[in-house]
Amino acid sequence: MNAPAGADVVIAGGGLIGLAVAWRCAQRGLSVTVLEPEPTAGASFAAAGMLAPITEAAYGEEPLLRLCQESLARYPAFAAELTALTGVDIGLRSSGTLQVGFDADDMRALDDLHAFHVELGLPVERLTPGDARRREPSLTPRLRGAVRVPSDHSVDARALHAALTAAVAAVGVTVVPAHAESLVVEEGHAVGLAHSGGVARGRTVVLAMGAWSGNLPGAPRLPVRPVKGQVLRLRGATGVLDGTVRALVRGRGVYLVPLRDDELVIGATVEEKGFDRTATAGGVYELLRDAIEVVPAVTELELAETVVRFRPGTPDNAPLLGPSADVAGLLLATGHYRNGVLLTPATADAIAGYLADGALPDYAKGFGPQRFVESMR
Ligand code: GLY
Repeated sequence: MNAPAGADVVIAGGGLIGLAVAWRCAQRGLSVTVLEPEPTAGASFAAAGMLAPITEAAYGEEPLLRLCQESLARYPAFAAELTALTGVDIGLRSSGTLQVGFDADDMRALDDLHAFHVELGLPVERLTPGDARRREPSLTPRLRGAVRVPSDHSVDARALHAALTAAVAAVGVTVVPAHAESLVVEEGHAVGLAHSGGVARGRTVVLAMGAWSGNLPGAPRLPVRPVKGQVLRLRGATGVLDGTVRALVRGRGVYLVPLRDDELVIGATVEEKGFDRTATAGGVYELLRDAIEVVPAVTELELAETVVRFRPGTPDNAPLLGPSADVAGLLLATGHYRNGVLLTPATADAIAGYLADGALPDYAKGFGPQRFVESMR
């Protein structure tokens, strides 16, 4: 199953990031091999698909916000190109996002966030509870206030993964169904990835293993850790919501994201428990309790799936993009934490651009691993 004579690029990981990088590299004429043993095992399979630079923006994370905005701007063309190539509709939904709050503390937090967004010149709008319910009639009358973010959208992450799988096949990428067991380095240069069937050799290796990127044997240790998320998928939700609703319910965050057809995704827990795959009664209970408080009709829906996956967290919540500080020929495309779906187009363009031009585009500069080098020593 090895690439016959070594590829230009070998990619560890066939989640959204790995596949999108593969697609963009192949479009630039590079031969590409991807190692991915289990495409549904990664965060891509759990993601609600929010494209939400603004509602994910936190104080002190303005550079990440700008990167996220850059990627969001690429989405319409990215989606159209993918669909034209593969025939797969990735369910890009442009209905915006409503943030709602329940008690006085929630409203203070929403007010602070709104002031921060206004200060940054972001497009946000305060709504009365009545205005919010006119937009989303399924919302409870008990909410205290809302902020509308018309530019935070969503996409169907599983459909996006299916589209990228078809796209890489269409452009001749070799996908090896094997786990990248170690990075092979010769004379200080990455030359491939060892797996159960041999070695996939390449002139450049891209590390896109999501939450598993931190400790690949042979590769430098990276500050990437798994951050567990439990997510629910419900069915029968046709007409329940038009766009994403994010809520603070007496201090607890929950989001509800409608997908095409009749699905609704409810997320998500944020747990520092390593690779613990347990779906807990408490996690499911809290998500359902809060979601039902926000949209009472949720109680009637079919609970179709409980999914546990791992976000690739980094110390500053921003991704690692670009060349390794320690090993020549190793590129990093990982650590996307809560924004992997959103950052897929910008990451793919940045990594493919680096391989073609020898430099990262301006928007991706500053996200290199060297920002953590001192803290890793
Ligand atoms: N992007 C939402 C989450 O990570 O839960």
